[in-house]
Amino acid sequence: MDAKVSSRADCPDNILDQIKRLEELFTVETEQLKAITKHFVDELNQGLTVEGGDIPMVPTWCMGKPKGDETGTFLAIDMGGTNLRICEINLPEAAGAFEITQSKYRLPEELKSGEANELWDYVAHSIEKFVKQNHDIDELGQLPLGFTFSYPVSQESIDHGVLQRWTKGFNVKGVEGEDVVPQFEAALAKRKLPIKLTALVNDTTGTLIASAYTNPEVQIGCIFGTGCNAAYMDKCGNIPKIAHLNLDPEIPMAINCEWGAFDNQHKVLPRTSYDIIIDKASPRPGQQTFEKMVAGLYLGEIFRLTLVDLHEHPDCLMFKDQAITKLSQPYGLDASFLSKIEVDPFENLDETAELFHSTLDIKPSRHELELIRRLAELIGTRAARLTACGIAAICTKQNWTTAHVGADGSVFTHYPHFKARQAQALKEILDWPANQGKGAGDPIEVVAAEDGSGVGAALIAALTIKRVQDGNV
Ligand code: GLC
Repeated sequence: MDAKVSSRADCPDNILDQIKRLEELFTVETEQLKAITKHFVDELNQGLTVEGGDIPMVPTWCMGKPKGDETGTFLAIDMGGTNLRICEINLPEAAGAFEITQSKYRLPEELKSGEANELWDYVAHSIEKFVKQNHDIDELGQLPLGFTFSYPVSQESIDHGVLQRWTKGFNVKGVEGEDVVPQFEAALAKRKLPIKLTALVNDTTGTLIASAYTNPEVQIGCIFGTGCNAAYMDKCGNIPKIAHLNLDPEIPMAINCEWGAFDNQHKVLPRTSYDIIIDKASPRPGQQTFEKMVAGLYLGEIFRLTLVDLHEHPDCLMFKDQAITKLSQPYGLDASFLSKIEVDPFENLDETAELFHSTLDIKPSRHELELIRRLAELIGTRAARLTACGIAAICTKQNWTTAHVGADGSVFTHYPHFKARQAQALKEILDWPANQGKGAGDPIEVVAAEDGSGVGAALIAALTIKRVQDGNV
């Protein structure tokens, strides 16, 4: 699967040396994966304690899985990292046969670092457009809404949440430390929209619940996309930080791990100088250490920084005598750029040459193309292998030797070989026999999830309404 560089005889030493150096830098060996997983388990446990730790381990108040008999019409919105998605979901009597109408809007870049009211007004305006397109608003009763807000929020109930801190490059003023629900509801009220926020949901929790709807064995929901995170089903009795509420210890509770914050103390992750630059230049240095090494938002940037360094490296002189003006643009390349390189047939790497030329005005030599390809593989492989540590850690912590994991996100669905590399790493970490680690049929199997932020959010809203009707917390 991985590229082999041309024979030594025709590859200049500087390029070969650099490839070797990059391989050493980005390869995470089995023993390291195991050590990372072990530390991950400790941090997950620490996050559940009263004192807490770096990983937030947020109780989500999503208490139980769907049974398949949830019905009704729901609105669901998803304010993830890149798009704003609005859907209307109709859950009919027959489980799984849901209907969905949806629109997607790209979140304007400037909103991500603007003022809170601008963000909420944009969201409310988009909802208004969507609802008016699909309904006569005067005849509409009150629609329950599942709001997928995929950032770490502290929740004391399912319909409220205080934003701990922005992640994924967001930096909107006036929201951190605040309950996001009243801010959002005020924007809805200005437009007199007949909508009731019923559940504030993380995308991982939505993914977990949507996947469990069609496959009750799913215990973990993961997102490998712009950001990276997981939620899993625990029991109230296993969550020391809510022990004071005296809830029935057997009641299930989904925990949104917010594992992007793993190893913020820099104890085990093999960070490179490029990871360190990304962190320092980000709006929240010191936060989301794990996420910054594995999530889609950062993969292109790790790649770009490495190439810029090689250009400046006195022993390498990558793209010698060529202008790297476009390559010098921070966040100028995204993960899809790496995906395209990874699928390009290695024999000629024509697509890669064309990409570099058309996107960056750079004409790489054959050997430079080989280095580029190897670098993309190394960065993509490191990300996939590190994410396996998170999955293995949740399963180890829960003593699950088998598990089904529902996964979604652009990296999981589109990045070449991601799933195979992740499955291979799970096998190494958990010492599975030789015939396992191939994905399908593995003891811990990661499968493509159902639509978490649409169906998942709607189901959580339905479960919440049912719980309230039944007089439960
Ligand atoms: C970031 C967010 C988290 C979300 C993940 C995937 O890590 O903090 O809430 O689940 O991205 O979107």
